[in-house]
Amino acid sequence: MDDFMPEREQTLDPADWDEFRRLAHRALDDAIGYLQTVRERPVWVPVPEEVKTSLRQPIPVDGQGAEQTYSELQQLILPYASGNIHPRFFGWVQGSGTASGIVAEMMAAAMNSNCGGRDHGAGYVENCVLDWCKQIFGFPKDAAGLLVSGTSMATLIAMVVARNKYAGVDVRRDGLGASARLVAYASVEVHESTTKALETLGLGNQALRRIPTNSSFEIDLEKLTEAIAADRAAGLKPFCVVGSAGTVNTGAIDDLDSLADLCRDQDLWFHIDGAFGAIAALSDKLRPRLRGIERADSLSFDFHKWMHVQYDCGCVLVRDGALHHAAYTMRPPYLQGADRGLAAGGQWPCDFGLELSRSYRALKVWFTLKENGTRKFGDLAFQNVQQARYLAELVKQTPDLELLVEPTLNIVSFRYRAADLTRAESDSLNKDIVAELQERGIAAPSTARIHGDLAIRVCITNHRARLEDFDLLVAETVRLGREVLQARHLSSPHYSR
Ligand SMILES: Cc1ncc(COP(=O)(O)O)c(C=O)c1O
Repeated sequence: MDDFMPEREQTLDPADWDEFRRLAHRALDDAIGYLQTVRERPVWVPVPEEVKTSLRQPIPVDGQGAEQTYSELQQLILPYASGNIHPRFFGWVQGSGTASGIVAEMMAAAMNSNCGGRDHGAGYVENCVLDWCKQIFGFPKDAAGLLVSGTSMATLIAMVVARNKYAGVDVRRDGLGASARLVAYASVEVHESTTKALETLGLGNQALRRIPTNSSFEIDLEKLTEAIAADRAAGLKPFCVVGSAGTVNTGAIDDLDSLADLCRDQDLWFHIDGAFGAIAALSDKLRPRLRGIERADSLSFDFHKWMHVQYDCGCVLVRDGALHHAAYTMRPPYLQGADRGLAAGGQWPCDFGLELSRSYRALKVWFTLKENGTRKFGDLAFQNVQQARYLAELVKQTPDLELLVEPTLNIVSFRYRAADLTRAESDSLNKDIVAELQERGIAAPSTARIHGDLAIRVCITNHRARLEDFDLLVAETVRLGREVLQARHLSSPHYSR
């Protein structure tokens, strides 16, 4: 207290608000310009060594002010984005963001609400978004849910609820105990976030039975039934089936309705990983493919993928809201609710998940949905599915390329083919083509394995992509394939033609 001088009290607020206003307006203009001109830039630029070095600076003890820091942000950070806002970003499964998302995120930053609980606007906005989700997916009004960082977290949260229900012991109080014998089921195509969830639950990844798929990459129901029976006979305790509504490799959708029947008959928890595919429910044309989604015990999906809400935002819905609440609620005296005042508000988001302090994810989802309406997102999803068909046809018509699987949703897998290459050589060639496409800033597909072959995988969750982008992708893939082959002194029959 000795050296505290009230006349020198500090704050982080700007000393000169007008100066800050000018900087902030410039930054907003820069952000809008950045987005508006994205098509003119390379999809991706590797971070140069000197920039990496510049980002390994010692921690600043004395600040340099906002103006200089913003100038560094422009030089060191802005040019080196991951590229997913670009019209030709087709890698993994990533959304493109929206222009208005800048506004929603800016306002959320101004409010800086802690959305773990208490009685303020954010809780009502989040409940509004969750109610909309229940409507979209046909969940009952008394279902519960939570906005989370993404589908990985959503799946974990749901599987905790499932484990606690089927454990046969009070897991929250006593730990795993007999529940260590619990086993879950999903197809071999399931995303690894389900494996991670089982590991995190303390059940181990061996507790996930990976069931083969049919020729359409959908879970084989007969083999699933056999696996459940075998586990029961061995004294294990089947508790959960994870269905995929859009697999990461090919976009396959399991037969969700049949899985719901099976889970009902076998008394198993039915979880659906709908990371991107669930958004197809917004399209009248695609929705029938998701029949059965409304019967899931829990569903995880993302707003940041096929709905383009700025990162990050996923969602978990749990049919039995009371079970969801019971799995997470914990209110020590410092988090007691109240009938009135800021501590009111009944059930808080922290009663449904792991996070206490949380950002205002709901605001950007609310804004995006109010601005565009669900129909628009359904139309955009269908547009991407049509583009996938267009690309598949283009690949089929291109002699140097081979379509590896007919697209059923928005993912196209193909490869450059050259005669007389071993599988390993062909894999390495296609891997190099993908790297070249990325490093030259042309396009950013990723890779996948289809029937053992390394594929150039194009996932179209992109509202900026146009048909001409797929024309360019195919032309450049062929050009680079020939170039890489030539560089390796290998011959291609098509090249020599
Ligand atoms: C089918 C599927 N499930 C789960 C995930 C994980 O989602 P997130 O990255 O939002 O955690 C992904 C990511 O691409 C996915 O495609």
